[in-house]
Amino acid sequence: MSKKFYITTPIYYVNDKPHIGHAYTTIAADVLARWHRLQGEEVFFLTGTDEHGDKVAESAKKYGQEVLEFVNTNAKKFRQTFDNLNIQYDIFMRTTKPEHEASVKIFMEKLNKAGALYQGVYQGLYCPSCEDFYTEKDLLDGKCPVHLIALKMLEEKNWFFKLKKYLPAVKKVIENGKLEIAPETIKKEVLGLFKQGLKDFSVTREKVEWGLDFSIVPGQKIYVWVEALQNYISAIGYGRNLENYQKCWPADLHLIGKDIIKFHAIYWPAMLLAAGEKLPKKIYAHGFFSINGQKMSKTLGNVIDPNEMVKKYGVDATRYLLLSQFPFGQDGDIKAEKFDEQYNAFLANGLGNLVSRVAKLIEQSGGKLKDKLKESDQLFKKFSSSLRKLEFTEAIAVFEAEINNLDDELQEERPWEKAVNDKNRLTFLQEASEKILAITKAIEPFLPETSLKIKKKFTAPRITKGKPLFPRIEA
Ligand code: MSP
Repeated sequence: MSKKFYITTPIYYVNDKPHIGHAYTTIAADVLARWHRLQGEEVFFLTGTDEHGDKVAESAKKYGQEVLEFVNTNAKKFRQTFDNLNIQYDIFMRTTKPEHEASVKIFMEKLNKAGALYQGVYQGLYCPSCEDFYTEKDLLDGKCPVHLIALKMLEEKNWFFKLKKYLPAVKKVIENGKLEIAPETIKKEVLGLFKQGLKDFSVTREKVEWGLDFSIVPGQKIYVWVEALQNYISAIGYGRNLENYQKCWPADLHLIGKDIIKFHAIYWPAMLLAAGEKLPKKIYAHGFFSINGQKMSKTLGNVIDPNEMVKKYGVDATRYLLLSQFPFGQDGDIKAEKFDEQYNAFLANGLGNLVSRVAKLIEQSGGKLKDKLKESDQLFKKFSSSLRKLEFTEAIAVFEAEINNLDDELQEERPWEKAVNDKNRLTFLQEASEKILAITKAIEPFLPETSLKIKKKFTAPRITKGKPLFPRIEA
């Protein structure tokens, strides 16, 4: 039986249409999913949308729509965007699906039977945008540290999860690496959270209307984060399809942004331990990016729509442009006005031009290569050692260096100055084609369409220059 690889992205809030932040994590997950498939593994790739809670309901109101209609419209936009980005997900999960509700009900009841829940009173400063409570010390100028809005003091009867009871066990698995948290900086941050004193958290809400019912106590809704995390198991049939669940779970990798690390690295493992389920093997939290030094926000008007990028640059170039900006584990800044320049330099003049030049030379020599193309996976292996660490920019640098090398060799050899049937010219073109094929194999997870086009071109009965892979963008 082949090895399985279960990879997830966060499920995204549908209070608005998707932006390049959502695209960033999802493209990264897709690259990894494709890379695992190329190695013959059985991949389950889950992404989707988080559709309950006040924030979503309030947005629907703002747009003058029924909540269900609103979430349907926006969930569709996410799905279409991911399709536009050539994301090969296996399941697109929506928390408004009845299957999700069914699994969540079973999981919550299991938590209750295990004695992990109790009734209490919650009092705190609530931010409706974060869907989260804050304590005084978290505030920034007396306001929500994330949204900078004034917070209301709320008191309500809630059900709580005995987080404190499970903290030592969670800390232990993080420390001994049974639950791998990466990168190292994030792991340190998480271990730091244990020292700050974490409290039991409430798993239900009284005042929320748009949510899943808490079957144990009528009138209470399940806190949106608590059910959202369960999408990782509801999507594969928790409590409903035991066979599929056991085949997929535990997740091999939860890929998230660092903003939601506490929920994933502490709350989620604690809930799973309480319910007697296995823990995910690894959680990787990537960095956050700003746009020209500022937070991406509607108010600032600097939100970039990934669909617009696909229209302008094409799907593969968009994937490349987003993942090549800065190391995955770090924060970075995106300067959209640099995209044209980067596209021209690395794709139009780089890979695209190299492929055209070599193909044209072969075309001039009759369109046929000397021999059958030999395959080599050396470059793929080199690539893989970067991808294993989720070093996307390092992997991209490997392929860019390879393109530069081949460009240099071409410049030195100058096959165009030789006769079309010159033996050295034909040998050189044979070798260059094999190198291009090796590059093609390595870049497939990043640039799947381009990779296929190049492979077709060089294995066609007659090789021709054809159309450019990446037409230059003129200023
Ligand atoms: N619905 C929750 C997640 C629940 S998971 C069980 C949520 N949704 S979200 O729509 O706000 O998406 C947050 C995620 O979007 C981040 O964790 C990250 O993956 C991605 N990003 C959003 N903005 C981003 C940047 N500016 N930079 C990098 N990633 C970004 O939180």
